[in-house]
Amino acid sequence: MFFVTGSTGNVGRHVVDLLLAEGAKVRALTRDPRAAGLPPGAEVVGGDLGRPESLAPALDAVTALFLNPAAVGGSTAGFLAAARERGVRRVVLLSSASVRDGVAEQQGPIAVRHKEIEDAVEASGLEWTFLRPGEFATNLLFQWAPQIRATGTVRAAYGMAAMAPIHERDIAAVAVRALLSGSGEHAGARYELSGPESLTQFDKLRIIGEVTGQPLRFEELPPEEGRQAMVEQGVPSFVADALLAYQAAAVRHDAPVSPAVRDLTGRPGLTFAEWVADHAEAFRG
Ligand SMILES: NC(=O)c1ccc[n+]([C@@H]2O[C@H](COP(=O)([O-])OP(=O)(O)OC[C@H]3O[C@@H](n4cnc5c(N)ncnc54)[C@H](OP(=O)(O)O)[C@@H]3O)[C@@H](O)[C@H]2O)c1
Repeated sequence: MFFVTGSTGNVGRHVVDLLLAEGAKVRALTRDPRAAGLPPGAEVVGGDLGRPESLAPALDAVTALFLNPAAVGGSTAGFLAAARERGVRRVVLLSSASVRDGVAEQQGPIAVRHKEIEDAVEASGLEWTFLRPGEFATNLLFQWAPQIRATGTVRAAYGMAAMAPIHERDIAAVAVRALLSGSGEHAGARYELSGPESLTQFDKLRIIGEVTGQPLRFEELPPEEGRQAMVEQGVPSFVADALLAYQAAAVRHDAPVSPAVRDLTGRPGLTFAEWVADHAEAFRG
């Protein structure tokens, strides 16, 4: 039995679907089972990771966990202690490419937060695998899609900033390989994950226009206005600061492309154009 946290999230929904497709048994956690829209093959469990002790009975017969920081937050240690007590052996953590190894201090709040969760997982005594993706393509669903639908224009800083956005299904596919693996195969591995191509923000908008058949325009803003625009789109200000810093650092070179999706799944990573095709309606006005 596999226990999926964040099962209604971008990555978790695919983890549930892909595990079921492999014939695995899945227990999927959500705070609101009625609204979850999870597939009938999954055993849906209502619960809140803010109160990890209440979830202990749901961990019976579970061998491995998929852990999403958006779901587990500050309760990681308590939840993992309950999991270990109930006989869980393995955890696959959705972490972040912002985490650096071998440094005294992490750079920025996103890295600090993910490193804290990684440390709690390492200290849990469970076998672990860390997935460290960079930019999710899904970020564009809240950063760009509303303005594209409303105006056909994206207003943002650093149009030449290059990233290698990853399809959420590829993160899930790697997670499922690690969850289903034989004992020890991916234990202690830290996999950096990316999409298969380095794309500037200009490239991404061009591809969205091509795939959805719309003329779209990029209005490049000075950094401070770009930050303000992100905050107005609902990005928390500390995340806007972090994103702007990543973008500023990413204007002069291609983004690194990781081989991990291909190596672990045996197929190439999904392209950005494929991701846009999967979400085309979100960008149509
Ligand atoms: N965005 C990026 O570029 C990026 C890059 C690297 C890493 N990441 C990592 O990926 C995470 C986001 O993953 P995602 O996009 O798949 O998630 P998401 O779509 O934001 O979904 C969040 C999930 O967490 C669950 N959740 C929230 N609070 C909970 C609680 N108290 N108890 C139980 N479940 C709770 C929600 O379930 P219900 O609402 O159904 O309860 C939902 O399934 C980030 O937090 C970060 O750690 C993101």
